[in-house]
Amino acid sequence: MKIALASDHAGYELKKGVMSYLSEKGIDCDDFGCGPGEKVDYVDCGEKAIKKLLTKDYERAILICGTGLGMAIVANKHKGIRATPCWDEYSAEMSRKHNDSNCLTLGGRVIPLDEALSIVRVWLETEFEEGRHQRRIDKIIKIEEKYFKSKGKE
Ligand code: RB5
Repeated sequence: MKIALASDHAGYELKKGVMSYLSEKGIDCDDFGCGPGEKVDYVDCGEKAIKKLLTKDYERAILICGTGLGMAIVANKHKGIRATPCWDEYSAEMSRKHNDSNCLTLGGRVIPLDEALSIVRVWLETEFEEGRHQRRIDKIIKIEEKYFKSKGKE
């Protein structure tokens, strides 16, 4: 699995911790900003990573800002993206089992590193349950088809 990562300045330190964790586990990932010492708008780095996810070169994205909320809003403006802010192992598990989350968002100012790593571990290990949850995802896809003009790519 290849993961596209991004953060703003408020998520930078946590992103570094997540990247070390992923590389220890042998999971391929690329960082689409921001870099050390940069002060950026979460919207810009978030969009960059999501565009990569939409190319299908990456299977998942992890986006980190101060709260995880701004990144989730940005990511969910893209067709086919189901971005879920997660705050503990349970929310991470459900985001995969029930929502088939393909983008995890985390808050660098609200989640300590050890908890964030547990969330990432559970989010990566948990499979989508399908069944009745697929029916609900299909309804979300129908909403996307109704309101999104672009096919997901520019
Ligand atoms: C940056 O100060 C902060 O607003 C941002 O990281 C994020 O929390 C927005 O949702």
